[in-house]
Amino acid sequence: MKILYGICASISAYKAPWVVRELIRLGAEVRVIMTPDACRFVTPLVMQNISKNPVIIEPFDSEHQENGSWHVHWARWAEQVLVAPCSATTMAKLAHGISDNALTLALLSLPRETPLRLCPAMDPDMWHHPATQRNLSRLASDGVLILPPEEGELASGLSGAGRLPEPVQIAEWVLASGSLRGKNVLVTAGPTREPIDGVRYISNHSSGKMGYALAAEARARGARVLLVSGPVSLAPPPGVEMVQVETAGQMLEACQQHYQTADVILKSAAVADFTPAQVAAGKLKKEQLGQDWSIALEKTGDILAWLGQHKRPGQYLVGFALEIQNAEANARAKLERKNCDLVVLNEANQPDSGFGGDNNTITLIGPELRQALPPLSKRQCAQRLWDFIEGSGALT
Ligand code: CTP
Repeated sequence: MKILYGICASISAYKAPWVVRELIRLGAEVRVIMTPDACRFVTPLVMQNISKNPVIIEPFDSEHQENGSWHVHWARWAEQVLVAPCSATTMAKLAHGISDNALTLALLSLPRETPLRLCPAMDPDMWHHPATQRNLSRLASDGVLILPPEEGELASGLSGAGRLPEPVQIAEWVLASGSLRGKNVLVTAGPTREPIDGVRYISNHSSGKMGYALAAEARARGARVLLVSGPVSLAPPPGVEMVQVETAGQMLEACQQHYQTADVILKSAAVADFTPAQVAAGKLKKEQLGQDWSIALEKTGDILAWLGQHKRPGQYLVGFALEIQNAEANARAKLERKNCDLVVLNEANQPDSGFGGDNNTITLIGPELRQALPPLSKRQCAQRLWDFIEGSGALT
């Protein structure tokens, strides 16, 4: 893995040589670019010795011009880019496309598909400042990956959020990722809404949290991710392409349009099984409906079953089953009926399971597999599920 490593001015830059040493120990090749003020905290000579590569500080460095502009060639050389520590000033420059030093110049030259990771480190008031937070959300919506600073004691004597995480943790964040580079992932999440009239609908309690965690984790591992989402109140995960839908019919259409290029499809959406046969125009008035009102419902198209029927060789299809009784037997029946490679079973009557909460308790069901996981956060469930899929060898 070729890593371009940027260092900004921060007292925590004393950890930078150790981060580079960890990256190299884990198999990376590292080239370093420093901002001029970063050199007040750690010397280029140290970084050159540890990285075993020349270090660039000057935008007009004439020694490293390879076939013209070095910043373009260094940016294209990189498979991943990490800035640790990243200062508030560099975040502000990146959020606004300013390239006034060697580091920001190289970062503005990055091809869009190269993951850029930042580890911000600063004093808590700088971190919480509205300008910093505004820049942070702008960067996140540009697809930049952020490892938030840790809480603790800082060199200034203050304590709070702002510490650079430990070098081993930073190196693992960079290198445990990238394992899904080059893979296309399609995730569906959230509920669907089936309109009854202009103001009413049938839906369910799905929050979308599990699907969004799966999409975020796939993106953090370097996959290109398309998230087809029903209506939820979650922010789109950074760097993930979104298709917003309302109804089961629209979700089916979006999946039919995008399934072909996907290497892995995760159908975590809670799709309505039935939809009103007719949608009334405007608003139905209760006076018109009498004392008993029934709505004729018709079955929605089963998206997962359709994907199972059209699965191409090498494509990995994961279904989700929310069950109360005969959980495993029902999940196995879905696995077979819908031609899935794996079903993620959720037992709705267990604690820490199902819709809404931040935790989940899942069991992985495959043709020859039953793997029950302990209660975990939804993000941890997503990590374990991706570890399982990658470890199964299905994606090689
Ligand atoms: N699913 C789908 N399209 C539908 C209904 C469900 O793609 N119209 C998918 C869900 O995204 C999930 C799985 O199928 O991955 C759930 O299976 P399903 O048999 O529909 O479960 P339930 O809706 O819970 O149905 P049942 O009442 O039979 O348990």
